[in-house]
Amino acid sequence: MTSAPTPIQPRRRHVVGITGASGAVYAQRLITELVRLGHETHIVITRYGRRLLHDELGIEHLSNDTLHRLAGIPEHDHPRTHDIYLHPASDVGASLGSGSFRHDGMVIVPCSSNSLGAIASGYGDELLTRAAAVCLKEKFPLVIAHREAPLNRIDLRNMMELHDAGAIICPTNPGFYLHPRSVDDIVDFMTARLLDCIGVQHSVSKRWDQELADQHAAKSARRSEGG
Ligand SMILES: Cc1cc2nc3c(=O)[nH]c(=O)nc-3n(C[C@H](O)[C@H](O)[C@H](O)COP(=O)(O)O)c2cc1C
Repeated sequence: MTSAPTPIQPRRRHVVGITGASGAVYAQRLITELVRLGHETHIVITRYGRRLLHDELGIEHLSNDTLHRLAGIPEHDHPRTHDIYLHPASDVGASLGSGSFRHDGMVIVPCSSNSLGAIASGYGDELLTRAAAVCLKEKFPLVIAHREAPLNRIDLRNMMELHDAGAIICPTNPGFYLHPRSVDDIVDFMTARLLDCIGVQHSVSKRWDQELADQHAAKSARRSEGG
C-alpha cells in the first residue's frame, strides 16, 4: 500500500503458528515480511493448517527445504540461509516447546477455535499449543489472530481466559478506513496490526495519521488548483 522506507531494527526471533482456520494468506504475508526484514522466523503448522495452506494457497509438501513460497524467498536460496525454520507439529520436544528457547513473540495466524480452546485450557499435546503455553508462562508476547464468525460463548470465554493470561487477542478483522483497492491491501492492513502487536518495525501499511496528512495535502492541492 505504501513505499515508505523500512525502519531499521536489530534482528529479532519470532514464532509463527498456522492452524486450520481460513486466512492462510495472512500467515504467508506475515512470514514473508518477517523474513524480508531479516528476522529469524520459526514456523509450526498443525495438520489442518497444512490443509488450509493447500486449499487456499496451493502450497503443499512443506519441509525445511521447501518454504520458498510461504516465506517469499527465491527458489535458488535455501530457507536456512534466511534463518527460516519449520518445526514438526507433533514433537512437543522441539526447541519451541521449551522456555529456554528465548524469542520475541509468537503469532498464531490464522487461529482456529479448536487451537484457541486448547491453549485457553492449557492443553499442550502438540507443538503449537505447547509453544503458546510457553509464551504465557515465560511472558513472551503471544498474539492470537482468531478467525471464525459468528463467535459462540465458548470462543468468547476462551478469548477472555487468554486475554487475562497475557495473550493479545487480535482477530483477523481488517479495517477499511485506508480505502483498500485490492485483497493485498486488506491482507497488508492485517499484517501491519500483527507486526505492531509483536513490536516489529515495518512500513507494510499506511497509518491513520499518515492517511489524515495525505487527505489534508490532497484537499490543499485541490484548493490551490481551483485558485
Ligand atoms: C476449509 C476449512 C476451513 C475452516 N475454517 C475454519 C475457520 O475459519 N475457523 C475455525 O475455527 N475453524 C475452521 N475450520 C475447522 C478447523 O480446521 C478444525 O476445527 C480443526 O480441528 C482445527 O485444528 P487445528 O486447530 O489443530 O488446526 C476449517 C476447516 C476447513 C476444512
